Amino acid sequence: MKIFMDTADVAEIKEFADLGIVYGVTTNPSLIAKTGRPQAEVIPEIAKLVEGPVSAEVISVECSGMVAEARELSKISSNVVVKIPCIAEGLKAVKLLSAEGIRTNVTLVFSLSQALLAARAGADYVSPFIGRLDYIGENGVKLVEDMVKVFRQYSLPTEIIAASIRGIDHVNDVMLAGADIATIPTKVLRQMFLHQLTDAGLKKFLEDYAASQK
Ligand code: E4P
Repeated sequence: MKIFMDTADVAEIKEFADLGIVYGVTTNPSLIAKTGRPQAEVIPEIAKLVEGPVSAEVISVECSGMVAEARELSKISSNVVVKIPCIAEGLKAVKLLSAEGIRTNVTLVFSLSQALLAARAGADYVSPFIGRLDYIGENGVKLVEDMVKVFRQYSLPTEIIAASIRGIDHVNDVMLAGADIATIPTKVLRQMFLHQLTDAGLKKFLEDYAASQK
């Protein structure tokens, strides 16, 4: 499973890109708004920091507007992937963009049937939102498990990006489910490094080393 960062914060992305563990980034209008800067300024900076896909979302809700926005976004850098909402107009746009060689990530996916439609429209990536499903009493991880099964069964090439991740348990669960990618918020990514036994073990090794030098 590849690791993407789910943020538009350039400083945070740089910090983790320097560690060599982050392959791609996903953004959305809410994450861009948090930076206080325009998308047109932020996305080119992010696209330079990571080698893999950087998702930038359209804000049009009809096909022609989405396609026009997507063409502009895709000019920013070869690693920009256009995020399109999972609505009928969006899937129509995905089909057209796919024919033009513009890569898409279908977002706001909450059901297996939506995932199949996105894949059949020609989406390169599809993003099931785990945390938001859990919040309404459904099982987000189960959706990822089902999608992995169906995509394998029908040899669909669309990659699954597990999104709306809330904690390490989600990361572990979607990893075990076989998601191609998890897009992880910075807070959760920081937690993934930590284990109390690592800290305790390191402390003891350093103490023993210091004692052996006396
Ligand atoms: C993914 O691409 C989305 O940006 C993200 O995961 C949204 O999730 P959230 O707003 O529920 O955290």
